[in-house]
Amino acid sequence: MKPQTVNTPSPHIEVPPHPQWPMLSPAEREALREHIKQLMRERDAVLVAHYYVDGELQSLAEETGGCVADSLEMARFGARSDARTLVVCGVRFMGETAKILNPEKTVLMPDLGATCSLDEGCPAEAFSAFCDQHPDRTVVVYANTSAEVKARADWTVTSGIALDIVRHLHERGEKILWAPDKHLGRYVQRQTGADILLWDGSCVVHEEFKGFALERLRRLHPEAAVLVHPESPDEVVSQADVVGSTTALIKAVKELPNEEFIVATDDGIFWKMQQAAPGKKLISAPTAGEGATCESCAHCPWMAMNALHNLETALREGRGEIHIDEAVRQRAVVSIQRMLDFAERRG
Ligand code: 13P
Ligand code: SF4
Repeated sequence: MKPQTVNTPSPHIEVPPHPQWPMLSPAEREALREHIKQLMRERDAVLVAHYYVDGELQSLAEETGGCVADSLEMARFGARSDARTLVVCGVRFMGETAKILNPEKTVLMPDLGATCSLDEGCPAEAFSAFCDQHPDRTVVVYANTSAEVKARADWTVTSGIALDIVRHLHERGEKILWAPDKHLGRYVQRQTGADILLWDGSCVVHEEFKGFALERLRRLHPEAAVLVHPESPDEVVSQADVVGSTTALIKAVKELPNEEFIVATDDGIFWKMQQAAPGKKLISAPTAGEGATCESCAHCPWMAMNALHNLETALREGRGEIHIDEAVRQRAVVSIQRMLDFAERRG
């Protein structure tokens, strides 16, 4: 069965340039890290970081008992943590998910402007109208959406659990309305055979990976395993040895016998991959070549908005706090909790 993609009026998405952070000497950097640790103790704060943020933030999160994870594990960690303050180093939807699940906690982010092209490309009002047109379908939304969109959904999923949840719904005979990532939606459709109606959204970072240039790179590195995040276009996914969430790709680098890997996802992940498998060679999948449109060049411009500098400001001034309307939160938590309960049962 071929999934049907609905041509929604796609809003123009402004892709910001990568921010330039001031250079720090080793001594300045160390002083800043120590100061951040002090502020974290004062606020009873813990860092919840995504694999795509700067390695500096990932190492600080690990050193201070926080977590570095994919979006599913970030949500699970926040819900388990005893800390009064969660500082989410990632993009806006990750901070919102933390707040939805932990309304009694303060959730801070280094920069509230760190959004995501999938979230931006799925405005709540247009999405709600789309759902109204298809009342017979179960609404499944990717975690990379606003609280309002999650509030309209039956299920929230991340790339780490999408296949299992959609397979389960398909086995129950449910037809699905999927938003916003059409590439991930198509991949899920091919793997599960489910009847899926797709919203027309995409990730500006993964969409830039080029199938043709990847073929050429593979010829130059015939021993390399190709690892692909399913937000990538079909012609890239079809060349993969492993398709999966960020956690699944890191696991593949560690467990596969290959010494070289071509990686089609944000290159922030290299920090963790290198830590997991020191000595293995990591090559970024091409975003250049024929038809190149490289704006992000394999690094998410919104993830890049997280740095030691604005983390320190957020902790010192309590800036970057996430607030969610309580009525929206109460509806959004249902679709997220369904995913977490499913994950718990799955183990
Ligand atoms: P993961 O859930 O695999 O970490 O993906 C989140 C994301 O934004 C990928 O671009
Ligand atoms: Fe969104 Fe893509 Fe950035 Fe992930 S990499 S946060 S999907 S824009």
